Amino acid sequence: MKKNNQTLFSQFLLLGLPIPAEHQELFFALFLSMYLTTILGNLIIIILIRLDSHLHTPMYLFLSNLSFSDLCFSSVTMPKLLQNMQSQDTSITYAGCLTQMYFFDLFGGLEIFLLVVMAYDRYVAICLPLHYTSIMSLKLCLCLVLLSWVISMLNSMLHTLLLARLSFCEDNMIRHFFCDMSALLKLLSSSNIHINELMILVLGGLTMVIPFLLIVVSYVQIVSSILNISSARVIQKIFSTCGSHLSVFSLFYGTIFGLYLCPSANNSTVKEIVMAMMCTVVTPMLNPFIYSLRNRNMKEALISVLFKKKISL
Ligand SMILES: *[C@@H]1O[C@H](CO)[C@@H](O)[C@H](O)[C@H]1NC(C)=O
Repeated sequence: MKKNNQTLFSQFLLLGLPIPAEHQELFFALFLSMYLTTILGNLIIIILIRLDSHLHTPMYLFLSNLSFSDLCFSSVTMPKLLQNMQSQDTSITYAGCLTQMYFFDLFGGLEIFLLVVMAYDRYVAICLPLHYTSIMSLKLCLCLVLLSWVISMLNSMLHTLLLARLSFCEDNMIRHFFCDMSALLKLLSSSNIHINELMILVLGGLTMVIPFLLIVVSYVQIVSSILNISSARVIQKIFSTCGSHLSVFSLFYGTIFGLYLCPSANNSTVKEIVMAMMCTVVTPMLNPFIYSLRNRNMKEALISVLFKKKISL
């Protein structure tokens, strides 16, 4: 049923958020402040960890990587969303769309793998404390971070290439605020998207479920080893570091599970957009606060950096 003389779309239109026109300004201000908070909060974490040599431990280096990933993750979608809310022209080129999708998948995946690495780091620190420094060498840390990058890159490259072979000639209105893979696939009715859907299911499943299981196993080990310790002070210390990790983990996976596992209502597009908003805006914004507000070392580092600045002024 393929027409010979199809015109391919060279650009897409992002329909954006389902916000009534009279509230556009309000939401623009809200998203702009959320985005700026994300940038500022994560930058502060990266700079603090760079500056304070007490924080040059695997846990904080991973945290700094997570902050970098958060920063990039929200920068993939937010600037374009903010620009579209201000202008009448909400188009995005075909190449721009694929690029946005690639980086969205890349940093989304990186986020998940870094959470796994951080959970493993806490597992070694708490369950094998005597071997911590020998296991968590700088070399292993680098390898783990590199591996996270490579897996995320391969994963998003595969999705992007699979999407790039499709020709979009039926519809170019994306019912989303960024070039989301499933929103793009909804533009096609043809039968050759089966392989894309299959890959989303298989790869998406693997990159979500395996990290989830690894993280759960790490924390189960941690909790069972905590239960053997009787000192309340040690337990409190462990909970203060792992609590923040678990909050980030629940926030991220809570959103993902809410998106994929909850029975979808009629207005599933709206639900998807709200969930995507949670993932791309709210989680990266809250991560720095969850870590630094609960963490004494981070607070001390902040105070010492600010104090030094004051003296030099
Ligand atoms: C990421 O982690 C690696 C390995 O621990 C570290 O060398 C690097 O400085 C970190 N990157 C950032 C941006 O913090």
